[in-house]
Amino acid sequence: MEYEEYLTQAMTTMAEAVERQLRDLLPVPKGPEGRLVEAMRYSMFAGGKRLRPFLVVTSADLFGVDKKYSLRVAAAIECVHCYSLIHDDLPAMDDDDKRRGQSTCHKKYDEATAILAGDALMTLAFEILADPATHPDALVRSSLIRALAGASGVHGMVGGQMIDLASENEELDMGEITRLQQLKTGALICFSVEAGGILGKASEHMRHLLHGYARDLGLAFQIADDLLDYGGDPEEVGKATGKDAGRGKATFVSLMGPERARRQADILADQAIEHLREFGDKAILLKGLARFVVDRRK
Ligand code: IPE
Ligand code: IPE
Ligand code: MG
Ligand code: MG
Ligand code: MG
Repeated sequence: MEYEEYLTQAMTTMAEAVERQLRDLLPVPKGPEGRLVEAMRYSMFAGGKRLRPFLVVTSADLFGVDKKYSLRVAAAIECVHCYSLIHDDLPAMDDDDKRRGQSTCHKKYDEATAILAGDALMTLAFEILADPATHPDALVRSSLIRALAGASGVHGMVGGQMIDLASENEELDMGEITRLQQLKTGALICFSVEAGGILGKASEHMRHLLHGYARDLGLAFQIADDLLDYGGDPEEVGKATGKDAGRGKATFVSLMGPERARRQADILADQAIEHLREFGDKAILLKGLARFVVDRRK
């Protein structure tokens, strides 16, 4: 089998397993709050690459972690990611109408329902992590909770979203844009890889290598997202394009133009792969993912 096909198949199989897990964990719509659960499910099961879940399970696999644990953590990070997308699309933020090829949550339902669906997905993530079914060792569970809270909050995704909004029509330099991207997107990607190390009780050294990989991967991932906004096909990417320039967003593309941004993403992907050298062929999927992230068309 061609290598690319192997990675695509692994990603598809993993996405299916994560979706089964999510279907089990998400509540079923009933009662007067049913509309909220419908909105959560609407946004959650609209496709999506399930990249962060793939990172959790694949990095946990490096340490032989049972999938019954890693798939629950994978579901938890996808809940936080999906919440971040629902809120990111709100009129008060990026004001987008399309996400994952369908109407955004607030367009399909209404703004209040979309805000609440995001809130409920975020809190569900922590409920999942705190459940003894996620890992028998309470210290592992509390480390996961702490790491996800840190990656999601003011020093992570939410802080990055604030800078992203505050920087509209501002000129940021390379260092400032790097920090913005590391917080808004990089932090959740770093958590996903770190979670594998936590579940697997990996050594400091292994965690350090994985962290280096995740940092470069996260940056490469966001540059690719910015390039898709610049030149992607809206049908294929499943969301409107050209929005970043329209809103005066500070991105690597606005700073250095698409060609240099593309080269930067390639360099970061190579660097990410280099961090995993010691893992050899055991990390073949993670290495392949770094290339996928920059070559993707959606
Ligand atoms: C989009 O993330 C938002 C960013 C953090 C750039 P993804 O590209 O992973 O979105 P889905 O989950 O596949 O829809
Ligand atoms: C979103 O970044 C990052 C988070 C949701 C935390 P973008 O605003 O660039 O994501 P898209 O392009 O709308 O998916
Ligand atoms: Mg945004
Ligand atoms: Mg957006
Ligand atoms: Mg974007």
